[in-house]
Amino acid sequence: MTELTDITGPATPAEPVAFPQDRTCPYHPPTAYDPLRDGRALARATLFDGREVWMVTGHSTARALLADPRLSSDRTRPGFPVPIARFAAVRDRRLALLGVDDPLHHTQRRMMVPSFTLKRATELRPTIRRIVDGLLDAMIEKGPPAELVSAFALPVPSMVICGLLGVPYADHEFFEAQSRRLLRGPSAADTQDARERLEAYLGDLVDLKARQAEPGDGVLDDLVHHPYREGALDRDELVSLAVILLVAGHETTANMISLGTYTLLQHPERLAELRADPALLPAAVEELMRMLSIADGLLRMALEDIEIGGTTIRAGDGVLFATSVINRDTARYDDPDSLDFHRSARHHVAFGFGIHQCLGQNLARAELEIALGALIARLPGLRLAAPAEEIPFKPGDTIQGMLELPVTW
Ligand code: HEM
Repeated sequence: MTELTDITGPATPAEPVAFPQDRTCPYHPPTAYDPLRDGRALARATLFDGREVWMVTGHSTARALLADPRLSSDRTRPGFPVPIARFAAVRDRRLALLGVDDPLHHTQRRMMVPSFTLKRATELRPTIRRIVDGLLDAMIEKGPPAELVSAFALPVPSMVICGLLGVPYADHEFFEAQSRRLLRGPSAADTQDARERLEAYLGDLVDLKARQAEPGDGVLDDLVHHPYREGALDRDELVSLAVILLVAGHETTANMISLGTYTLLQHPERLAELRADPALLPAAVEELMRMLSIADGLLRMALEDIEIGGTTIRAGDGVLFATSVINRDTARYDDPDSLDFHRSARHHVAFGFGIHQCLGQNLARAELEIALGALIARLPGLRLAAPAEEIPFKPGDTIQGMLELPVTW
């Protein structure tokens, strides 16, 4: 692992940029971040409330800092930076896994890991394949055109995570709508209300599972019948874990499927290459993860002073990881703005790094390989059904992806 003391090169901050900003093209970082892409490892960013934070832009610096226990993820700490006004007004900032530090993080993560191993994701592949084929059958039967987000990109991960957790898919319209409001509702009240509704819904589900003599085979059933019943997990913590698994489990992957498809359609030579050689799929997924960096802006707060390349991050300072810029660091990737399935993209930070590195990454990779692979194989004439520049994509203050994706074939 890179030590902070090994990092050389300019780490001096450039002029602060406002964060977050909307992307100009949905698969490139906002052009407003271009001045930060000058080889510096650290920059300054200004948040909506005028607060300045560090913005990490260098790849090796990012990996060293993401693995550094002096940076906290605990949103309940006074002074923890908030990037978006509607999150600032949310009363309860507690967040399982993603928002806790060790040792509690280690305890929570250890309970989850067996359900999210590579082996478990491999076992789920036939189920994912059935879901993907079922949705494509329905699209093909109905005939073109189709709106790909609602017909395919969202239902694939939503059905997969429901099956894995033991949440009834029949309730998908409710929890998908609440997830949308939680992440990008119009106001803080909306975000707060969506969170409370999701907690109430999953709390009822947990209570129902706790009353069943024989556990079902979902992850929530395992948690209810073991750590919860055994007293190692209380109800609030269990519900908080359920919320994060359900929301993180479908929103992110749905955005990768929609934006990944759009990006492939905008790169016809790469798409043809992938169709001709499906063995490239795992590398293509990794490269799309790097290039799209849909979770753009991971947050931390320094607990102690951290010296880095002649700069000091002070205790209490906010630190923001701009994954879209980090994943295009020219010191790590040649020609980083081009889509290239033959580079080694594996060390990107699109799934984060360190103790909080994405729990669902094996599952997400399996879903993306199967969904994108089947989509392009079964619809050889797939193309956009509207001019590319007219297709709406998500604003910069949420996870990146397409709002809609009209396609035909
Ligand atoms: C392509 C899709 C996905 C992307 C881009 C993504 C991205 C990320 C990132 C960047 C983090 C680290 C956040 C941080 O360090 O602050 C993370 C953590 C996490 N992800 Fe994912 N994720 C994806 C899919 C999934 C799926 C399918 C699940 C399934 C449940 C999931 C569950 C989680 C959880 C629980 C964490 C918190 C882990 C911890 O704090 O220990 N993610 N994800």
